[in-house]
Amino acid sequence: MSLLPGQTHVILAPDVLAAATAQWILARAADAVDARGVFSIALAGGSTPRATYEHLAESVGVAWEQWVVFFGDERACPMDDPASNYAMARAALLDHVAVPPDHVHRMPADSDDLDGAAAWYSQDVEVAQGSPPVIDVVLLGLGENGHTASLFPGTASLDVTDAWCTRGLADYEPFDRLTLTYPAINGARQIAFLVSGGSKRDALCGIVDGTVPAAGIRPTDGELHWFLDEAAAATLPG
Ligand code: 6PG
Repeated sequence: MSLLPGQTHVILAPDVLAAATAQWILARAADAVDARGVFSIALAGGSTPRATYEHLAESVGVAWEQWVVFFGDERACPMDDPASNYAMARAALLDHVAVPPDHVHRMPADSDDLDGAAAWYSQDVEVAQGSPPVIDVVLLGLGENGHTASLFPGTASLDVTDAWCTRGLADYEPFDRLTLTYPAINGARQIAFLVSGGSKRDALCGIVDGTVPAAGIRPTDGELHWFLDEAAAATLPG
């Protein structure tokens, strides 16, 4: 029994974690396509999800034409920059599967007007997913300081409740970001954190005691899942 909210899945080794989360995503996608004819997902950035995306890219029999892809956050850099979450998702997944290009909703964090870009993406998400938007699966990572997406401690993004996307401010390069907001993430049907390694102890403790931004991830009507490898699970409090 984990002290984390929602359902905790402890999967042993990092490569098994990636395969297991890919299978979980595919199952949610099949359910969504069966139920509604479409599957929407917001991809996480950072390094942890890359292996999951690579496992997805190797999967067969997937109704990729019914997938609609959003991003949880994006760094303010060119979209082909190695730091770009979009670039990582293309390299690991999107360039290898038949998701229609107009079904991929890239976050335009390479814009010179980040406030305007955030407003545009809020509108884009709302047109695609309704108001309030309901995304089938939102994937999230967990930073060592307890940030998730680009909702960083002590930043204005944590207080945004009237938009689906806003500016983020990281404490490492690239500092400027775009991020989905709490309302956009918490409206999802399924929210899944992917956490690997032993460096997230403080962040996981912060989830339990409610002191970090990722503790604000609480699905309004959906489910919250934690996918941890053994090293991350070993740092869980309690
Ligand atoms: C980003 C991510 C960020 C990431 C965490 C964990 O743009 O960096 O959205 O929230 O998920 O920092 O990153 P790792 O998976 O690399 O530990």
